[in-house]
Amino acid sequence: MEMDQLVALCKRRGFLFQSSEIYGGLQGFWDYGPLGVELKRNVREAWWHDMVTSHNELEVPPGAPSAFEMVGLDCSIIMHSQVWKCSGHYDLFHDYMVDCRESKRRYRFDQVCGRWVRCKGQRIFVASDVAGDEGLELTQHKAMKFFNLRGKDADELVWDGPLVLLTTVKEFQHVLGPDAKTLGTLTAPREFNLMFKTIAGALGGEEDAVFLRPETAQGMFVNFKNVCDSTRVRIPFGIAQMGKSFRNEITPRNFTFRSREFEQMEIEFFCRPSTSPEWYRYWRDRRYQWYVSLGLASERLRLRDHEQEELSHYSCGTADIEYAFPFLSQGEFGELEGVAHRGDFDLRSHSEGKLVRQGDQLVVETDAEGRPRHRGSGKDLSYFDDQTKERYIPHVIEPSAGADRATLAFLCEAYNEDEAPDENGKPAKRVFLKLHPRLAPIKAAVFPLVKKDGMPEIAREIYKALKPLMPVFYDEKGAVGRRYRRQDEVGTPFCITVDSQTLEDGTVTVRDRDTLQQWRIHKDECAADLRQRLMA
Ligand code: GAP
Repeated sequence: MEMDQLVALCKRRGFLFQSSEIYGGLQGFWDYGPLGVELKRNVREAWWHDMVTSHNELEVPPGAPSAFEMVGLDCSIIMHSQVWKCSGHYDLFHDYMVDCRESKRRYRFDQVCGRWVRCKGQRIFVASDVAGDEGLELTQHKAMKFFNLRGKDADELVWDGPLVLLTTVKEFQHVLGPDAKTLGTLTAPREFNLMFKTIAGALGGEEDAVFLRPETAQGMFVNFKNVCDSTRVRIPFGIAQMGKSFRNEITPRNFTFRSREFEQMEIEFFCRPSTSPEWYRYWRDRRYQWYVSLGLASERLRLRDHEQEELSHYSCGTADIEYAFPFLSQGEFGELEGVAHRGDFDLRSHSEGKLVRQGDQLVVETDAEGRPRHRGSGKDLSYFDDQTKERYIPHVIEPSAGADRATLAFLCEAYNEDEAPDENGKPAKRVFLKLHPRLAPIKAAVFPLVKKDGMPEIAREIYKALKPLMPVFYDEKGAVGRRYRRQDEVGTPFCITVDSQTLEDGTVTVRDRDTLQQWRIHKDECAADLRQRLMA
């Protein structure tokens, strides 16, 4: 599947629109249309249901070290600035970027690659902001243009090694920027904080500066004590939260994959330090299985354990759940979710102050006078286990998912084309979204075969009966074949058609989106039949 086909379908059928499109759009921001909003809600609801509301704290789930509890939170997007100072986001949440003085474009330093090439006595680095085969093609094309070569003179280019990252290049004066015509137009890399800054209060001074949260996680850490004090949860337990996060990404790209406003679905799971490795493995495997259960195919989904050098300074283990999005080069995967063992870093940071690693230890970072660089809350965030009479700072396992990325992966996976007879019985290309029934925005469509003979009246009665139970769609316009195709294209699993036989025996046709099989049931059985099939 080409990504352009999915993007076009999303716009055509009202899944996703560019934000503020009539004004030319705003890069990195997206609006979910009438069908998109339902799809994303279904993703979020599946997550909340499976992780929180349906969790049975009385039983040990398969693979878990013990039974555990789950509760939810919904925290504010803007929080006290000290939260971000102690979490490390204020000092460390940076990307390096390079600007092009010629094209005025900005690139993420670690995402620009390129190749060294020799020609006409010069050696230059031809940069591209696209990797893989496309990057190879682009650099070839750019080098030909730069050296003023025709197609037949391509041999004059002597390539010196494969595509490598710009981060490996020291001599920027020899770099031909991704969109530049002259050499040396890229600036040295500069740090760029990804948090959106705004002002809370009327005075508007620097002391009123606040940030839109770049992750939902911190709300759960700073409420750890509130949750323990206000509920009867005991360790091990998890707090779940989903909601908007904001990052001023330098290069938002690949549809909603990297946006500046997006939704996260995060769990902070608090456990005894001694059992934390087992909990880490449990959550890593369970979260992977969640995507499989909703239809992501195993050959495009992978669980990748981070190498030691990839781990954050506080993490004893991290794994990414990744999907082979179609906009990536062959063999590349994009992150859907990170599952991290965070030790006691977060609770200690919010208690003692911002931590840094010193040898094997995490210690409070100090300034030139020896005072904490960022003071913590001073609140005791330890946990007292009244059964073992032990006090400790719990360890945290954090499965952190993106609702928009998951929605995009489900859409990519669902996009299918096959051949089926059109309304005239001729074979024709059919586009259908093979969405899991739990995720499908519309669960069933109801059609009268023709707009006469009392068929619309019966179809409307069926629609009326189904409507309070599930999202259904009524359509009586145009040829029935075309109506089927419109529903296939938005992933509706079943279509119910009232036809002339309905007038005789009260039965209707049910058609399956994926197999195209049709069967008859009595019109009064539609609700029970659909419920059973949707739950299967
Ligand atoms: N609390 C940990 C945390 O936020 P992260 O890997 O930065 O970790 C977690 O983000 C998830 O949030 C990612 O796996 C991804 O699904 C989603 N995400 C992060 N940045 C995003 C962006 N710019 N656009 C869309 N989703 C994003």
